[in-house]
Amino acid sequence: MSGTSYSGSGSVTVTLDGSNRTATLPLLQGTIGPSVADMRKLYAELGIFTFDPGYGGTAACDSKITYIDGDAGVLLYRGYPIEQLAEHSSFLEVAYLLMYGELPTPAQKAEFDRGVLHHTMLHEQLRSFFNGFRRDAHPMAVLCGVVGAMSAFYHDSLDINDPEHRRISAFRLIAKVPTIAAWAYKYSIGQPFVYPRNSLGYAENMLYMMHAVPAEEYTVNPVLARALDLILVLHADHEQNASTSTVRLAGSTGANPFACIAAGIASLWGPAHGGANEAVLKMLADIGHVAHIPDFLEKVKDKNSAVRLMGFGHRVYKNYDPRAKIMQQTCHAVLAELGIKDDPLLDLAVELERVALHDEYFVSRKLYPNVDFYSGIILKAMGFPTSMFTVLFAVARTVGWVSQWMEMIEDPAQRIGRPRQIYTGAPQRDYLPMSRRT
Ligand code: CMC
Repeated sequence: MSGTSYSGSGSVTVTLDGSNRTATLPLLQGTIGPSVADMRKLYAELGIFTFDPGYGGTAACDSKITYIDGDAGVLLYRGYPIEQLAEHSSFLEVAYLLMYGELPTPAQKAEFDRGVLHHTMLHEQLRSFFNGFRRDAHPMAVLCGVVGAMSAFYHDSLDINDPEHRRISAFRLIAKVPTIAAWAYKYSIGQPFVYPRNSLGYAENMLYMMHAVPAEEYTVNPVLARALDLILVLHADHEQNASTSTVRLAGSTGANPFACIAAGIASLWGPAHGGANEAVLKMLADIGHVAHIPDFLEKVKDKNSAVRLMGFGHRVYKNYDPRAKIMQQTCHAVLAELGIKDDPLLDLAVELERVALHDEYFVSRKLYPNVDFYSGIILKAMGFPTSMFTVLFAVARTVGWVSQWMEMIEDPAQRIGRPRQIYTGAPQRDYLPMSRRT
């Protein structure tokens, strides 16, 4: 049984097609959101599995961290609307909120900031680890490899049953992932690694480690630091998405947190998930000009082509992704700050969005821009290369992964994640010696 008691009660009776059996399932009610039929005893009592590839209708865990209402376009972190956090909060405050459930007092915030901002350096031997990669390796490959390798360097915080070990590992991950990300970039362009400066803020430090060089003074533009901080806030957590579910599944086996977060990074990399921000820019470059939008959309709508409108559509949102709205406004502010009056990519994106939102194909399928549609344009304007976009997403989401991992480990009902299947392969048969095979 779960360690949580669910408000509300009742049950739902389902008739099982193809048999004359019915099953009465308890109905669980969370704080908000739809009721959830409790399937846990279905197999034990009736010998029947549920079939839900892609988990479109399955709640895999209970969680108190993030809530999404996909029809209304609502996203809450610990109950607070993303719009309010984007306007008033900061990434480290959001990190505290996601991890501990409440907004910090000034003293809690100061202690938390100190804990994160003073653990930004990597074990010096991790530095030589980078040299094993090709210079043209994708920075997500480097990030995934080096974060996984952290489990070989921080042996003193690997006991997942010790709350203090869990806390230290969480802090190490949140503090060191930006350093690894920045170094992956520096390595790819052949520049020396820039060590973190703990007097800088989180986003500020990241910009510094990426763009500074030892030979010159470098001052971080505060508007760009604020914009990056906002982007990190918007990407910090998103309920049980593919990478978070990957982290939980890996963590459910008792694997150490560094290995689990490396698994999350691998899952995030795909173009259907975090890799979409990189894919959007490639798509815009391929379209090239507003005049080519109609032809491009015809390809997207053609069932025989694999082309998708990247940065559009979402498994949960059937309305405008609230993060995309904020991202669009931020895009204009960042370009204005940088003195970019006409950005052909932004013009193309705005027109592509306008045309798609009036096209029956997208309207009928409730396909709206998601968080990735505008983020790439902002990040490019800020001087990040395309290959770093998903890396920045991973930096932000590390906070969400760590929070979800901690919640899972602390849940007394936690069990190894072990889905079942419908087996459609050959029935049992006897081995045939090769001489008798034709
Ligand atoms: N372009 C064209 N058609 C689409 C798109 C799209 N971007 N997204 C969904 N559809 C169509 C799809 O072909 C299907 O049509 P039909 O009913 O005729 O077969 C219908 O809409 C439902 O799509 P689905 O594939 O069942 O939806 P899903 O929930 O499995 O996929 C998604 C969600 C995000 C993978 C998908 O919308 C997609 O591939 N979008 C583009 C990639 C992208 O932007 N990903 C970022 C997601 S947000 C950030 C994150 O999670 O990391």
